[in-house]
Amino acid sequence: MHLTILSRKAAIYTTRRLAQSARLRGARVRVLDPVQVEMHLGDDAPGLYYQRRKLVRTDVVIPRVAPSVQAYGLAVVNHFAMLGVPTLNDANGIAVSRNKMRALQLLAAHGVPVPPTVMAASAGDLRELVDLVGGVPVLIKLLTPSEKPGVMVCETLQSMEAALEAVLSMGHNLLVQRYVRRKRERDLRALVVGDEVIAWVERRPRPGRLLHTLARGAKLKAVRVPAALDALAVKAARVVGLDVAAVDLLEAGTAPMVFDVNSSPGLKGLEAATGKDLALPIIGRAEELVRLATGGRKAKP
Ligand SMILES: Nc1ncnc2c1ncn2[C@@H]1O[C@H](COP(=O)(O)OP(=O)(O)O)[C@@H](O)[C@H]1O
Ligand SMILES: [Mg+2]
Repeated sequence: MHLTILSRKAAIYTTRRLAQSARLRGARVRVLDPVQVEMHLGDDAPGLYYQRRKLVRTDVVIPRVAPSVQAYGLAVVNHFAMLGVPTLNDANGIAVSRNKMRALQLLAAHGVPVPPTVMAASAGDLRELVDLVGGVPVLIKLLTPSEKPGVMVCETLQSMEAALEAVLSMGHNLLVQRYVRRKRERDLRALVVGDEVIAWVERRPRPGRLLHTLARGAKLKAVRVPAALDALAVKAARVVGLDVAAVDLLEAGTAPMVFDVNSSPGLKGLEAATGKDLALPIIGRAEELVRLATGGRKAKP
C-alpha cells in the first residue's frame, strides 16, 4: 500500500504515529504539507504536483488538515478524490464537522440528541434567546473553527451581552447553547473508526469556576460506557459523514447529548490515557478502503 498523509509537519505526534504504524504494516508512506500541493486542471487529466514535481500515484490519503488551511487543504482532498484515490474522511465530512451549526442540524435531524441550541444573526432580545435554551449559564460558541478557543461561558445576562457584542462586532457568527452542568454527568470522548469505537475517555474538568472547566488540557481517563453509547457515537460520526472521528458527548443520565464531532482527532492524549495503539486500527481502516476501491483485489504491499 502507498499511503499519503496530508499534514503540516511529519513531526506532529499523530502524523508520526500513523506513518510509523503504516510502515510497520509494510506500507510506503509520504507526508505532504497540503499547502505545498499544486492542483492542475485543464487539457490533460487532472494532476497533482508537490514542489514542482509530479506526484506518483498513491493508494489512499489520510487528511489531517489544520483549520488554518482548511479551504486550500480541502480542495487538495477533493483533488485526490477526483483522481479516484480513497480518502480516510472526505472533504465534505471534514467541512461539516467544522461547521458547528451544520453538524448539530444533521445530528438532530437524524435523531442524535444534542444540547438545546439557538443561532441568531443579531443578539435581539437576549433574555428570550437565553430562555430558549433554558436560562443562564449558557455557552457562546463561534460557528467556524479558529486557532483560539471559540467557546465562552456566560454566567449572567450582563456578561453574555458583553460577549455577544464583542463577538458580533468582530464579524463572527455564533450559537448559544445550554451549558450542561457537570455534577454526575461525564464529559466523554469516543474515538470512532469505521463501525467501531476503539477508545472511550472521560475528560475531567479542573475544579473551579465554570470557565476553568473549559480550559484545554483537561485530564483524560480511560472509561467503560454502556453499549448504547457505542452505537450513538458511531451514528454521530456517520451522520456527519466521517469515517474516523472523535465524538464528544455529555452523558447526562439516560439522555446523552452529542456536542462536538472532530474530524482530525489527536492521538496523543487518547493513547496515553488508554495505553492502546490507536494508530493501527486507523491504518487498518485505510487498508480496507484500498481493498474496497480495488474491488477486493489485494493491493500491492
Ligand atoms: N453544552 C455544553 N455544556 C457544557 N459543557 C460544554 C458544552 N459544550 C461544550 N462544552 C465543553 O466545552 C469544551 C469546548 O466545546 P466544543 O464545542 O468542543 O468546542 P471546540 O472543540 O470547537 O473548542 C468541550 O470540550 C466541553 O468540555
Ligand atoms: Mg471540541
